[in-house]
Amino acid sequence: MTIRFDANEIKRDFPALQRMVNEDVPLVYLDTTATSQKPKKVLECLSYYYSNSNANVHRGIHTLAEEATAGYESARTKIGEFISAPSAKEIIYTRNTTEAINLVANSWGRANLRSGDRIVLTEMEHHSNLVPWQMLAASIGLEIDIIPVDDNGCLDLEVYEKHLDKNPKAVCVTHMSNVLGTLNPIKEMATQAHEHGAVIVVDAAQSVPHMPVDVQDLGVDFVAFSAHKMCGPTGVGVLWGRYELLDGMPPFLGGGDMIKRVYLRDFDTNELPYKFEAGTPAIGEAIAMGAAVDYLKGVGMENVWEHEQDIVSYAMERLEEIPGLTVYGPEAEKRGGVTAFTLDGVHPHDISQILDVDGIAVRAGHHCAMPLHERYSLVATARASFYLYNSYDDVDKLIKGLYKVKQVFG
Ligand SMILES: Cc1ncc(COP(=O)(O)O)c(C=O)c1O
Repeated sequence: MTIRFDANEIKRDFPALQRMVNEDVPLVYLDTTATSQKPKKVLECLSYYYSNSNANVHRGIHTLAEEATAGYESARTKIGEFISAPSAKEIIYTRNTTEAINLVANSWGRANLRSGDRIVLTEMEHHSNLVPWQMLAASIGLEIDIIPVDDNGCLDLEVYEKHLDKNPKAVCVTHMSNVLGTLNPIKEMATQAHEHGAVIVVDAAQSVPHMPVDVQDLGVDFVAFSAHKMCGPTGVGVLWGRYELLDGMPPFLGGGDMIKRVYLRDFDTNELPYKFEAGTPAIGEAIAMGAAVDYLKGVGMENVWEHEQDIVSYAMERLEEIPGLTVYGPEAEKRGGVTAFTLDGVHPHDISQILDVDGIAVRAGHHCAMPLHERYSLVATARASFYLYNSYDDVDKLIKGLYKVKQVFG
């Protein structure tokens, strides 16, 4: 085991990780998959913006409006560079991953798909990469093919090939499962999708925050992610898409900013990226997302990823020591820093509640992946997830807490 950086030092950058819970126990935050904590630099950026430069973007020539616009656009450039997008014009601000996927389904989907067309989804998707496609399918009459998850928590790629033989128009898949931690072979899946004429839409909510992601190297068409899972604020996310695809798509929402000119009965659409940014956006939050990117780049995404690999390997080893505990998903080498588990005879909500008494924050439930839980005949799991600020010590506290849960339940 090699530590790439001192997670305890990183932890000091995060005010929320300094607090006590239940009066006098230090917080052990193991719920990053739901949302990450925010470093001081991001909080200061947000506060600075609202204290100094708060104004609407693209609509004024006074000092504050110019500062707000410059900050908003410079964050877009930083985010584009972070994922190696060929152009900042391909970075569309949305509210979150969910809205980004809804944008693709409603704009690209309605313009390019017809009744009887097929799309491919997977059994391990978060609801936000299932429901928008199900809604579209119901509305225009699409056929949905599902790639199943095998017993090891990986996609069955033989079934994927069979689905591709039916010439689907789109493949919608998560880069990393928010339950199993499984890292999917997106680059290979993209090549195969393109060989069959399908576009590939990637839910990167759990990959962009944790590993270097290069959209050009992956060879994908659309990528969606959220700021709040990568040290940034809530209320802002990104859809990246290939320029030609985005350029050919109709607007998703109508209103201010997405137009070039408006007449009483018609309008001319604005250029990319503004065409997809109707109304006043989350300006301070977008700027703070840029600060989050700066922070993560300062640590280095390779380092973040390798650190999480160390922590998750250690966590898997220690979790598997506990009698009656089952961890779902593949071995550590094939997953990111997520471990969903059950403990015989104890409901996951009870696990979470008892751990909370000792300040250990883990999530319990279906984690917005009901079909995946059904695959394992489960209604819920407990989930501990790790980020750059988690240490081996945090894992040890989790394990100690789980032994206590076992004691309570006899
Ligand atoms: C894999 C995955 N996709 C999509 C989402 C949805 O993200 P948001 O709620 O920020 O839209 C999540 C959130 O947990 C996720 O883990």
